[in-house]
Amino acid sequence: MNTEYNIIIDEIDEAVLRRAGEIIRKGGLVAFPTETVYGLGGDALNPTASKKIYEAKGRPSDNPLIVHISEVSALEKIADQIPESAQILADRFWPGPLTMILKKKEIVPNETTGGLNTVAVRMPNNKIALDFIKAAGGYVAAPSANTSGRPSPTKGEHVREDLFGKIDMILDGGPVGIGVESTIVDLTSDKPMILRPGYITASMIEDSLSREISIDPTISKGDNADIKPKAPGMKYKHYAPRADLYIVKGQNDSQVIEEISRLTKEHSLHGEKVGIITTIENLDRYQEGIVKCIGSREEEETIARNLFAVLREFDEDNVSVIFSEEFDTPKLGMAVMNRLLKAAAHKVIDAKGGRL
Ligand code: TXA
Ligand code: MG
Repeated sequence: MNTEYNIIIDEIDEAVLRRAGEIIRKGGLVAFPTETVYGLGGDALNPTASKKIYEAKGRPSDNPLIVHISEVSALEKIADQIPESAQILADRFWPGPLTMILKKKEIVPNETTGGLNTVAVRMPNNKIALDFIKAAGGYVAAPSANTSGRPSPTKGEHVREDLFGKIDMILDGGPVGIGVESTIVDLTSDKPMILRPGYITASMIEDSLSREISIDPTISKGDNADIKPKAPGMKYKHYAPRADLYIVKGQNDSQVIEEISRLTKEHSLHGEKVGIITTIENLDRYQEGIVKCIGSREEEETIARNLFAVLREFDEDNVSVIFSEEFDTPKLGMAVMNRLLKAAAHKVIDAKGGRL
């Protein structure tokens, strides 16, 4: 397939957006930027388009898609029994990095929701995305625009790497702002529940709703838990770089740096190329290995923004093993560590000795 690649960073090109909209209306696929990660869009109300999305990504079809809208009023056409909490959260956080799970209406095909009777909806905070959704008819189903299992795309080039030749068009709007996918909150039961952590934290949602909410227990317990996560996609291995990734934990930075340095030496002696992920604060404290700076602990947004790009870069460096520090920062730590732990398949080394 010929993929049209359009760079629209400095100026919104209306002709291109109109063409992108037409592609979606005719059942085709267009990748587009959002504030979180790039999405792979298709008409959410067209079952054939949803099937094509799964095919292009190589994604299991029981993993439902998020429907992207460009105005709050669009909710009513696709969601049923909308609770007051949805209105409150939409007023406060939309457009923005929050996805709400609501009861679905008939019009949303099972192909889009992976057979569930609920639908995930979000209104992204990105001008290109909003204009594109409007041009496309208002309902764009979009998973992250990566090959299934790979790190989510945070730049147009990442989408090109994974999907060029497999979709109709890529809208390259430059690097995204947030870098981790939207927070997902399920509003279909009495107590709202976070199914995926993101930029909007549990306490921000609790403040808006003036009530306590819960967090899917599988998020804190990891994949070892016997229980299934409520968001089907959260059970899959994700974000994995080609190299073996380990997270090294310890009581303080010095202990972690010492352990990573020791492991790096050991692996290097066996002729392996070793990668290290750290922040600007510790960058100069490593003497060996391919050391990548993910951002600054002082500005935790930078860590979320660079996470997926750093994981992808290591694929190009051909390292066979990567050791990462832990980035348990106050606000975004939960979202970042959720992705990093998945990328590491939950392999954690305790700097005090042994595997956790
Ligand atoms: O930030 C984002 O949300 C990005 C951008 C493109 O908007 N999209 C994204 O989509 O991350 P995706 O497909 O990579 O992740 C969607 C997640 C999956 O874990 C899926 O299982 C869950 O949302 N999900 C979708 N519909 C659901 C539903 N009805 N009930 C529970 N989980 C649902
Ligand atoms: Mg994804």
